[in-house]
Amino acid sequence: MDCTKCDGSGFIFDEEARKSYPCECRPARLARKRAAAVAGRIPKMYRGVSFEREPLPSLERSHRNVVREVRRYCDSVSEHLDAGRGMWFTGPPGTGKTTLAMLISKHAMQADRTVAIYSLPRLLAILRETFRDDATHSLSQLIDVLCSVDLLHIDDVGAEQTSPWVLEQLYTVVNTRYEEQRAIIVTTNLIDVSGASGEPDRELRDQIGERTVSRLYEMCGDPLPMFGTDRRLETQFNLPEPVSASTTPDPFDDSQWDERPSGYGRPR
Ligand SMILES: Nc1ncnc2c1ncn2[C@@H]1O[C@H](COP(=O)(O)OP(=O)(O)OP(=O)(O)O)[C@@H](O)[C@H]1O
Ligand SMILES: [Mg+2]
Repeated sequence: MDCTKCDGSGFIFDEEARKSYPCECRPARLARKRAAAVAGRIPKMYRGVSFEREPLPSLERSHRNVVREVRRYCDSVSEHLDAGRGMWFTGPPGTGKTTLAMLISKHAMQADRTVAIYSLPRLLAILRETFRDDATHSLSQLIDVLCSVDLLHIDDVGAEQTSPWVLEQLYTVVNTRYEEQRAIIVTTNLIDVSGASGEPDRELRDQIGERTVSRLYEMCGDPLPMFGTDRRLETQFNLPEPVSASTTPDPFDDSQWDERPSGYGRPR
């Protein structure tokens, strides 16, 4: 967006004083730049996610209340982020948790907010890597970024066991965000909301620690339950029938599978 006061650089040059001053458009310009820097982080599969496209209309029918909450959040995403309110989704694999979480992250990015998206296994690996000699970031630089973005989206929480040191770093990040009132979005398979277990979040607490889980409750409220069958399996088994031997896709040729249109983007 062009600014009428500066030349678009974010600075105004005062000829007389021969000095540059930051223009009033500079904070918004920086925010947009930061948002653009993380925009590439929505994984390709979820990039087209939107309320108007599948699987959202289907999810809206099967999980009306959850999708209503997500819609409310997205409608006033800046307000929620400013208040440090997050959300978390729990349920078995393939029920749409990551889809909904990505939808929120996308709305935050579109509102020019800074967002960092990691799967927890990947985040823990990056934390561990900071100790390597050829590491690109120091631990403190990484933690600074994780603590300062407007929204931290952690996917697949509880997907792997890890060391106490790494869990301590995760706690530091969650606790700093808690104290600074910055929002977190989480997805996990590890809270059993079916009511079958006396202590639904025991597995999660064992995996990532009591203190971290207790803060997540305060920051994200009650986990939103996503029940149902694994839609990912349905998608896989729903491949088109081969028409004739000559057009049967070669299962060993990856490029043919890349051509498959993703589930998103299909109009309602
Ligand atoms: N209600 C639905 N209708 C149709 N497709 C759906 C529905 N829910 C999810 N899907 C599709 O299932 C796949 C998996 O969705 P998603 O990645 O959001 O699941 P998830 O709950 O995060 O799973 P996991 O716990 O394994 O990470 C995606 O291709 C998504 O489009
Ligand atoms: Mg997921």
